[in-house]
Amino acid sequence: MFSTEEIPPDQIAGVEPLWAPFQQSFCVTRSINNLDSARTCPSLRTVTDALVRYIWQQEELPIIRWMELTSSRIEMVRAGLARHFGCDTDEISIVRNSTEALQILLLGIPLDAGDEVLTTTQDYGSMLAALEYRQRRDSVTVNRIDLPTPPESMDQIVDLFRQAITPRTRLILVSHMVNLTGQILPVARICDMARNQGIEVIVDGAQSFGHLNFKQADLKCDYFGTSLHKYMYAPRGTGMLFIRREKVAAVPPLMGGAIAGQGIDDIRKFEGVGIQSTARPLAIGEAVAFQDLVGPERKQARLYYLKQRWMDRFNRIDSMRINTRSEPEMSCGIGNFRIEGVDSGSLRDFLWDKHRIEVQNIGQFGSTIRVSANLYTTLSELDHFCDVIEDVAQKGLPDSYKKD
Ligand SMILES: Cc1ncc(COP(=O)(O)O)c(C=O)c1O
Repeated sequence: MFSTEEIPPDQIAGVEPLWAPFQQSFCVTRSINNLDSARTCPSLRTVTDALVRYIWQQEELPIIRWMELTSSRIEMVRAGLARHFGCDTDEISIVRNSTEALQILLLGIPLDAGDEVLTTTQDYGSMLAALEYRQRRDSVTVNRIDLPTPPESMDQIVDLFRQAITPRTRLILVSHMVNLTGQILPVARICDMARNQGIEVIVDGAQSFGHLNFKQADLKCDYFGTSLHKYMYAPRGTGMLFIRREKVAAVPPLMGGAIAGQGIDDIRKFEGVGIQSTARPLAIGEAVAFQDLVGPERKQARLYYLKQRWMDRFNRIDSMRINTRSEPEMSCGIGNFRIEGVDSGSLRDFLWDKHRIEVQNIGQFGSTIRVSANLYTTLSELDHFCDVIEDVAQKGLPDSYKKD
C-alpha cells in the first residue's frame, strides 16, 4: 500500500507496482476482463468477508436482538459516510441503492399541478421513468434538455440549463456524471443558478460518489443520491441519500414505516422498511475504511489515468469517434466510443465471446460502447483490450459478427 510520503497523485497514477495491492483487494478472476464496473463494481474482499461474517452473526441471535445490537454500529457507518460527503450524520440515510435514494426525492418532494421539473435526455432511465409517473400522478410538466455529445464546454451545459428554466420550474434533476458517457456536469454552477431562482436541485451521484474527489459543499446541492455498490465497492444493495437538514421534514418516506420514536425531521425515517438484514449496511464500514486508505484524490487520479490510457490510443485511430471529453474536469474513469461502421452490440458480443472482455453497449449516439475500468484493472488487461479494439478498427469484426 502507499507509504505516508506525500507524492502528487498524478505522479503515481500510472506506477503499476504501487497499485498492485489495491488490485489484489478485490475477489475478481483474471480470466475475465470486466470493463463494465460502472454498472456495479465487484465488492472488496474485506467487504465480502465482513458481509458473510455479519450474516452468520445475525443468524445466531433473534433478529430483534441483532438489530438492537447493531443499530449503534450502523451509526458509525453513517458517520463515516457523512465524513466522506462532508455533511452532518443527521443528513445521511442508508438506503438500498441510487434508485431508492433518488426516487424518494423524485416522488416525494412536494410539487403542485403545473409545476415544471427540468432534467436532461441523458439522465438515468429509471429516474426519467419516475418523473413520467410523477407527471401522470400530479400533473407536473417534465422538460428535458438534449445534451450535446460530447459537449463543447461546461459553459455550454450551464447555458442550456439557463435557457430551459422557466418561471414554472421548481425542481431540477441532474446527473453529476452521465452514466452513458462519463461526462461530468457542472453541478455546482447549476445549483447556484437554481437557488438564485428558488429552484431545488436533486443530484444523481450514482457514478460520481467514491469516484471523484469532492464534498457536498463543492456541489452546493440540497439533495444527493448514490449507490455504494459502484465506486465505493460496498455490498450490492447499498446506497446513500443526502438531504440538507432543514429539508428533511418536507420529504415523506416512500414507505411510511417509521421506526418507533422517529420524528418527521429524522432522516432515519427513510430506513423504516421493515425487517431486513443489517449485514449489508454494516459491511459498508469496510468500504469506507478502504476509501480512506487509497485516498479519494489518488483514486480519482488512477481512474482518470486508466481511462486516458485507452482513450489516448483510440484517439490515434481514424475510424474512432470518442464521445467523452477528456479534460480532468469533464471526465474521469468512464469513457464512451464508437468505431465507424461497427455495430456496438456485435462488438460487445465479440469482445465477450472471444476475449471475455465485458463492456456496455449503449444504444444512444449511434451505437456506442461504454468502458469503465476500475482499481482492480491491471495495465496489461487494459492494454490487451486496446490491442483487440485496434485490430477490430483495422480489420473489422469477423464475418459471423457482422450485421447485414
Ligand atoms: C446515473 C445513474 N443513476 C442511477 C442509477 C441506478 O443505480 P442503482 O441500480 O444502483 O440503483 C445508475 C445505475 O447505473 C446510474 O448510472
